[in-house]
Amino acid sequence: MDTEASIISKSPEETINFAKELVRPCQGGEVFALIGELGSGKTQLVKGAALALGFKGEVTSPTFSLVHCYKGEKFDIFHIDLYRVENVPSILSHYLEEILYAEAICFVEWPQKIEKLLPSWTQYWEITIIAQNERKIKRIR
Ligand SMILES: Nc1ncnc2c1ncn2[C@@H]1O[C@H](COP(=O)(O)OP(=O)(O)OP(=O)(O)O)[C@@H](O)[C@H]1O
Ligand SMILES: [Mg+2]
Repeated sequence: MDTEASIISKSPEETINFAKELVRPCQGGEVFALIGELGSGKTQLVKGAALALGFKGEVTSPTFSLVHCYKGEKFDIFHIDLYRVENVPSILSHYLEEILYAEAICFVEWPQKIEKLLPSWTQYWEITIIAQNERKIKRIR
């Protein structure tokens, strides 16, 4: 997918389907930074991705636990949510670095909080709320 890619999703299911396409070419080591306001659909997108990567369980928001790990068919999927983190303590940055540079697939909600830690190959996706059930999903970097 090129850096100009942008789609309109008209339902949570469409976002799930978009996520499936997004992770189809994954080979391990991919990092997806998901930018968007509360309720825009970041977790929804991770749900679709985890499903497509073979995870059978439930994907929930790691708002309090910070990191969830889901076992996919080929890869571990890390779901990171930094909403509640103010100044990232060094013990957490070290842990996050291990995850971000591992051969897993990582999704980061609120990536602005760890910009310096993110690998150069990170894909930045922005989700914008257009209407109650409509979202614009755009690759911005
Ligand atoms: N087209 C759409 N794509 C994704 N979600 C949608 C869409 N339309 C409606 N929704 C709803 O928007 C909500 C998105 O919630 P989600 O938890 O994924 O947001 P989030 O960006 O992760 O928020 P937070 O920052 O609080 O973690 C869900 O309730 C979902 O059903
Ligand atoms: Mg979320």
